[in-house]
Amino acid sequence: MASCPYLNSSTMLSKPKHPNASFCLHEFPNPQHSSSSSLSFSASPVATVSSARRRCRQTNRRSSLILASMDKSREPLKIMISGAPASGKGTQCELITSKYDLVHIAAGDLLRAEVAAGSANGKQAKEYMEKGQLVPDEIVVMMVKDRLSQPDSTEKGWLLDGYPRSSSQATALQSFGFHPDLFILLEVPQEILVDRVVGRRLDPVTGRIYHLTYSPPENEEIAARLTQRFDDTEEKVKLRLQTHNQNVESVLSMFEDITVKVDGSLPKEVVFAKIDSALSNLIHQKNAPIGTAAA
Ligand code: AP5
Repeated sequence: MASCPYLNSSTMLSKPKHPNASFCLHEFPNPQHSSSSSLSFSASPVATVSSARRRCRQTNRRSSLILASMDKSREPLKIMISGAPASGKGTQCELITSKYDLVHIAAGDLLRAEVAAGSANGKQAKEYMEKGQLVPDEIVVMMVKDRLSQPDSTEKGWLLDGYPRSSSQATALQSFGFHPDLFILLEVPQEILVDRVVGRRLDPVTGRIYHLTYSPPENEEIAARLTQRFDDTEEKVKLRLQTHNQNVESVLSMFEDITVKVDGSLPKEVVFAKIDSALSNLIHQKNAPIGTAAA
């Protein structure tokens, strides 16, 4: 492992910025910004500190180059997240992508973009979405496949949200050569889901997800611009739940060996801590030398 002699090993190991680099050094800790990023300089005068920081930056830059080239040889993370309507998939995806820098691909968002654009696919999709039914595979499968094939997804890794929702969608994905490392299932009791859907609001400017009770907007300006999804009514969410319940088992059975079930009824930070731990374990396994991954 490349290391900088001026940094504590704990500093280097505590901030993985890239999913495939548990010891990534790209972000140089700034002692002015973070008291926890402790730098172990040998002397305290300002000049000594600056020159130590300069040397450290140079060493760091070299280390970054080495690690970046090592990272390229590693496969990026490929994660699926699933769960009933309003189980918290989108909320967790915001947290996961901000830490792990994966490309978030949400089938529902791709479809809503088509609806908003008024395309032929969008018009057809809306009919199904309004009834809480699955949009036909002819529309969804290629849409997701195309997004997964974009260079950013290939390079950074992906976080697929709300796909696959049927065994035919899962099979199609596999046939295109997309195999996830982990399948996260958020489990939330049904009675909580309706309440979450009805109170959900979206910020069209930042794309952030809010809830009028559980995650209210930070200020009046944001509150005034929040919008509601056309399928976020009690009547429609019940139909969406029915569709989910009809399909979930067939999808789960295809990913049993890589599934992590998480209690999604807990506060979002607690849910994220569990997912974060699963992802960290996965990264360690992927980075472990061949023959030691199962240890
Ligand atoms: P889609 O957009 O995927 O909707 P969904 O699956 O119903 O899921 P949601 O987006 O409603 O919920 P979420 O789990 O992301 O929850 P969120 O984080 O927002 O799909 C819409 C439609 O498109 C489908 O019905 C279908 O017609 C079609 N479609 C999509 N994918 C398809 C596919 N593969 N094939 C065919 N058709 C497809 O959270 C919800 C609320 O709860 C928020 O207000 C949030 O603030 C709050 N919240 C979240 N977590 C917590 C927590 N831990 N505690 C308290 N509140 C929380």
